[in-house]
Amino acid sequence: MRIAVTGASGGLGGRVVAMCAAYYPSWECIGLARKDADLLNPATVEPAIISCRPDVVVHCAAMTAVDVCEEEQSLAMAINVEGTRVVASVAKKAGAKFVYISTDYIFDGKKETPYTEDDPPNPLSVYGKTKMLGEGIAAEVLGSLIVRTSWLYGSAGKSFVSTILRLASTQKELRIVNDQVGAPTCSADLALAILRLLEKDASGIYHVTNSGYCSWFDFAREIIAMWKMDGVTVIPITSLELGRPAKRPLNSRLDCSRYENVTGERMREWRTALADVLCGAAG
Ligand SMILES: NC(=O)c1ccc[n+]([C@@H]2O[C@H](COP(=O)([O-])OP(=O)(O)OC[C@H]3O[C@@H](n4cnc5c(N)ncnc54)[C@H](OP(=O)(O)O)[C@@H]3O)[C@@H](O)[C@H]2O)c1
Repeated sequence: MRIAVTGASGGLGGRVVAMCAAYYPSWECIGLARKDADLLNPATVEPAIISCRPDVVVHCAAMTAVDVCEEEQSLAMAINVEGTRVVASVAKKAGAKFVYISTDYIFDGKKETPYTEDDPPNPLSVYGKTKMLGEGIAAEVLGSLIVRTSWLYGSAGKSFVSTILRLASTQKELRIVNDQVGAPTCSADLALAILRLLEKDASGIYHVTNSGYCSWFDFAREIIAMWKMDGVTVIPITSLELGRPAKRPLNSRLDCSRYENVTGERMREWRTALADVLCGAAG
């Protein structure tokens, strides 16, 4: 199988390329960064993807800075919606399966139990809205696969984990939101899960996160404890107190049973994945 991956310089795209080389050595996975295929310059996208002669296009590129999307709505629409339209149409032209990565932020978080793939989206933010519109484009491509995930982090790039470690190296107290609950997900674990779904030729929507749930406050406390930063105190605050430009869902929990039923595998617990990332054993 030949796979082209957009957003290959990002946290997830880079892991898809690396995990494919490690776990599926007979497949060829080609990473495309912004310099190869710029979603704001559609003329660059088609030749970059077509030259990979892909059977599958995994579209990881996106504008992911949630608060910046709120303030730069037209840029977010251009990258996340129009950019997705271009990649999806090139995938279709190449006869390749289209894989779209989506997010828990398409939900409003008002449900009291984990969201299933069939729950109706109702995004609270510009980012969530652009990702939902991207899903709509993906869904129109026959045989496409939409993978929704949450709270991604890894050893490379900027993430909640790297931010907490940076802040904790200079501050004695960290004030972290305690009223949003979800599943921190290791990019390498998600990358392998996407490859597993491709192996099964899955199509439709799948929720994929590490197992178990926590708040950002719990997540920060665990990072501090595992990194043994004993002198740092984590203080719980509300989303209202933090006052970010973009609203986030309070309930970000995704039900992953469809993924478990199709692959026969359960994603490992988020704490186990975090420990591996912090000790350098997982990406
Ligand atoms: N991060 C999360 O917590 C999270 C949660 C749920 C779902 N997701 C989804 O998962 C996917 C991967 O996210 P991630 O965490 O890997 O994001 P990331 O680390 O921010 O990577 C985003 C990638 O998109 C590329 N990109 C941005 N604008 C582009 C443009 N105009 N043209 C081409 N490439 C462009 C970036 O390139 P540069 O490096 O050049 O900027 C980067 O390679 C995204 O679809 C995101 O919406 C993320």
